[in-house]
Amino acid sequence: MLKGKNAIVTGATRGIGREIAKKLAALGVNILINYRSNDKEAEELKIELENMGVTALVYKCDISDFDGVQDMINFAKEYFSKIDIMINNAGITKDTLVLRMKKEDFNSVIDVNLKGVFNCIKGITPIMVRQREGNIINLSSVVGIVGNAGQVNYSASKAGVIGMTKSLAKELGGRGIRVNAVAPGFIETDMTYALGDKFKDEAKKSIPLKRLGEAKDVANLVAFLASEESSYITGQVINVDGGMVM
Ligand code: NAI
Repeated sequence: MLKGKNAIVTGATRGIGREIAKKLAALGVNILINYRSNDKEAEELKIELENMGVTALVYKCDISDFDGVQDMINFAKEYFSKIDIMINNAGITKDTLVLRMKKEDFNSVIDVNLKGVFNCIKGITPIMVRQREGNIINLSSVVGIVGNAGQVNYSASKAGVIGMTKSLAKELGGRGIRVNAVAPGFIETDMTYALGDKFKDEAKKSIPLKRLGEAKDVANLVAFLASEESSYITGQVINVDGGMVM
């Protein structure tokens, strides 16, 4: 039963994060919508979630800002008193071959995708330990498992998220806290929009299910992992990729 639980979703105003927020809200979960810049999108989502009958809070904060993240988590704790679910979804890409990759391209992706997740788990862990329950779900990627030309920075960050997930699951399992990672394949969002139709058509051919994924395909798995239905699952990396990586 997820009804009445409280969740933080980072990068919640569009793409996969938005679908996760909507899916959890549809199941009765109150949501803190974290976002980085677009106030209008955040307010629209808040209204949409409230219309589903849950409490929705908005909090503007760049997840690569350690102190900002601690303030956000403390705000959520004060408002909700309990935080049951932390979804570390926010992420960026700065794709290019390593020959052309600037040190800034590497650092910014690591700062958001890897250190950003650390900032969130650092803030949420003491709260969940005190509660003696909690559920952390990190968005990794299949490229963190198999690598991808042009994504040395991104794949390193997502592989790092997998290591972090497994280590944290081992640290926190005895405290009633589960930690899992979701590894999407090729999902149609703003992040993949720029790749163009030709590239996407080629990609579809190599995917056993012959289609790109939708954000809701990922949200459905996240909702399962957030629920008691998955109560014996921790430290896992589960692909949502139409069979692309197996
Ligand atoms: P998206 O680009 O559509 O949305 C990402 C969201 O994160 C945006 O709302 C953005 O503003 C937010 N964000 C970015 N940096 C942030 C920061 N520093 N602080 C707070 N918010 C920030 O991306 P999409 O596709 O929805 O991706 C969501 C997650 O899933 C990401 O972690 C991504 O790496 C991962 N993923 C996506 C795949 C895809 O095919 N779309 C494949 C594998 C993983």
